[in-house]
Amino acid sequence: MIFEMDSTTFAHRLEKLVAKLRDFPGAAPSLDLFGLDVDAFRAMAPVAPPNVPYARHLLRSTSEVEVALARWTPGIACAPHDHGVSNGWIYCLSGRLRETEYAWTGDSLVEIDEHVRKAGETCAVRADEIHTCVAEGETMTLHVYFPRSESVRLFDTTGRRTLTVVGEVGAWFPVAPERISESQPWPRSR
Ligand SMILES: [Fe+2]
Repeated sequence: MIFEMDSTTFAHRLEKLVAKLRDFPGAAPSLDLFGLDVDAFRAMAPVAPPNVPYARHLLRSTSEVEVALARWTPGIACAPHDHGVSNGWIYCLSGRLRETEYAWTGDSLVEIDEHVRKAGETCAVRADEIHTCVAEGETMTLHVYFPRSESVRLFDTTGRRTLTVVGEVGAWFPVAPERISESQPWPRSR
């Protein structure tokens, strides 16, 4: 039998997790320690349209912290992006998430590392990191960022430009024009 957690209990437990994670870059604690498990999140996770990488459900959004739950569409990678001024954590709640890290050379992106995050694993996200993620099968993730970024950058490898985007924008193209605050063309490759 699955225990159905009431919303007040869930909010209280999530608050305790956020308070613990505020001590970044300490190790991310297991969700079990807070009485949170996959079933507590599964019912809240939205389903993404088939052609986009993920759908997000915001659990907390203040200037100090953003907590979002994501359900991924298998095989659809998000665009390379950074996280603005935010540092944080990704918990892989279920499935598998393949993450590719990039470095910006001044005129292009180059892949520098790759990791697979399995259910139960966590990874840190640094503000200066550029990455993409793609789900291998049904995957849910929990994201906790300090502070909430008011803007992030998306790297358009086809159009060779970097977009600074604002507001609640998914990491994929096209981007609604009103969400683009800056579009910076990449210099010609040397
Ligand atoms: Fe990301």
